[in-house]
Amino acid sequence: MDQITPIETQFTQLLGVKTPIVSGAMAGASGGALAAAVTLGGGFGFLSAGYDAPETLKKEINLTRDLLHTEEQDTVHVGVGFLCWQLDKFPSKAEELLSVTLASRVQAVWLAFGEDVGVWVKYVREHDPRAGSADAVKIFVQITNVAEAQLALKEWKADVIVVQGVEAGGHGLAAGLPLLTLFPLVASLVPESNGPPLLAAGGVATGSQVAALLALGASGVVLGTRFLLSPESLYTDTQRRALLDAESTLSVRTMAFDYARNTLGWPKGIDGRGLRNATVDDYERGEDITIIREKFEQGIREGDQNRILVWGGSGVGLMSQVKPAKEIVQELHAACSHRIKHTAGLLDLAEKPKL
Ligand SMILES: Cc1cc2nc3c(=O)[nH]c(=O)nc-3n(C[C@H](O)[C@H](O)[C@H](O)COP(=O)(O)O)c2cc1C
Repeated sequence: MDQITPIETQFTQLLGVKTPIVSGAMAGASGGALAAAVTLGGGFGFLSAGYDAPETLKKEINLTRDLLHTEEQDTVHVGVGFLCWQLDKFPSKAEELLSVTLASRVQAVWLAFGEDVGVWVKYVREHDPRAGSADAVKIFVQITNVAEAQLALKEWKADVIVVQGVEAGGHGLAAGLPLLTLFPLVASLVPESNGPPLLAAGGVATGSQVAALLALGASGVVLGTRFLLSPESLYTDTQRRALLDAESTLSVRTMAFDYARNTLGWPKGIDGRGLRNATVDDYERGEDITIIREKFEQGIREGDQNRILVWGGSGVGLMSQVKPAKEIVQELHAACSHRIKHTAGLLDLAEKPKL
């Protein structure tokens, strides 16, 4: 990364990173190895607490600490993501998870998907041993509509707001807006001089898309699905193969997989974007849920692409290679820089005298 010219934004300054590329918190998919690799590439990596036990989370954070060669007393330059509805559902486990996280001195926490995310923003601020110092944990809030953005901005005072469009892989707002519409709507609420950095998420696969979102005013870009296609993600080879095989039209919003694996309890209006297969088809046909579950579990045992869960955003059809996450970051950075220079060149061309 050293030989590459950094891209500087409000977000890269806040986090002290060289490129405004972030790997999103992905329950069941982003562990310590992925988060560390993204940070080592010059971006910022998140691991996810998701549905994990506190011991598992601790192990994953320690793995990151080792991979980044971070001393016990120093800040670990990754973040940890939480599903707020899971924190609401299991309060004592929530306290343990957050206590492990804050004690381990990670640089950021990511909160999303709760009936009242603000409760957890407050909790984190009140329990952060570094609160009040420059080193205080940075709170990222992922939002899916304008009303939530207003709360994140005005009430919860998030340090970073992640604007998630309907294209995003994994969970999001079923009736959400496309990123190209939602982002400017949210950006119009934020004062240019002293607002928090806004990150854009959903359907991004290429450096040109990253450049386009920076041009739209994003301070950084979050990618999820692209990073599933790295050896460091917790996805299996079968899941990665399904992503490589998929065209973008196969990426659909559905509750089929939450019914099949029994992860119900998401806030109203939320569903998940994943790859259509027989599990989704059966669900849409109104098949009995016990039969869907049996076939789903058998599919997992047999590694059957046509039954298993593979979350994936609408950018999936643009992805054709598994690569180490560090290389993905560097490739995105280089392509983004190239696109920015090329676009700026359009101004130079316009200014040249016509012959
Ligand atoms: C496998 C997977 C798991 C995810 N889990 C979470 C999660 O636990 N919390 C969350 O806020 N977002 C989650 N997301 C959404 C991501 O944070 C991000 O918004 C999304 O991946 C961006 O869209 P993209 O996948 O098209 O790049 C998940 C996404 C994927 C693909």
